Amino acid sequence: MIVEQEKITYRGKEVIFRCATVDDGEMLLEAYKKVTGETPFLAADADEINLTVEQEKAFIEKNNSDPHTLLLLVFVDGQYAGNCSFAGKNSTRRTAHRASLGIALLREFTGMGLGGIALERLLAEAKKAGFEQMELEVYSENTRARKLYERLGFVECGSIPDHSRVNGESFDLIRMYKRL
Ligand SMILES: CC(C)(COP(=O)(O)OP(=O)(O)OC[C@H]1O[C@@H](n2cnc3c(N)ncnc32)[C@H](O)[C@@H]1OP(=O)(O)O)[C@@H](O)C(=O)NCCC(=O)NCCS
Repeated sequence: MIVEQEKITYRGKEVIFRCATVDDGEMLLEAYKKVTGETPFLAADADEINLTVEQEKAFIEKNNSDPHTLLLLVFVDGQYAGNCSFAGKNSTRRTAHRASLGIALLREFTGMGLGGIALERLLAEAKKAGFEQMELEVYSENTRARKLYERLGFVECGSIPDHSRVNGESFDLIRMYKRL
């Protein structure tokens, strides 16, 4: 889905939330590789991101045309800072009330409260789109993300031990949900 661009001032900076266009494809792919290299808390290593620009553009188009998905980019003073997204679990009517989200900010833009503002916006759009439950997965060691999700009202509902091994360290995966 496509939502209207929103511009706010946050800590003296201009913050823009907007959907991606295919022209963002190359930049988004580079940023995706960069952020996976910066944090151990995403699902893959940077050298495992083998998407082409064409595939990234197709991903953007799919997100924009599918009424059950939203890909929201965040820009701070004109610089790309990261993105958040949700996707509905609408493959059957039985699960169509649920969606799951993801978020990844470039390291330079973490730790300043931007994640919370972006997710509040995302959750509002998910509710507007008719979803009743938002779900997510987070590594146990990702203290910052877990704090943020708890502040936003997410509740833990299970975990998978030894879910991922990152640089020789084993991470459990925690599942969380929030009623919208
Ligand atoms: C996780 C992420 C979305 C959080 O967004 P953010 O804007 O950086 O988070 P905030 O600055 O709002 O901080 C969130 C909370 O963690 C706390 N915090 C900040 N830095 C911290 C740190 N280094 N260690 C522990 N807690 C920290 C903040 O005080 C805040 O607590 P509060 O919500 O109770 O006030 C963002 O850091 C990010 O994209 N990280 C990289 C990718 C990632 O981990 N994605 C999530 C995968 S599940």
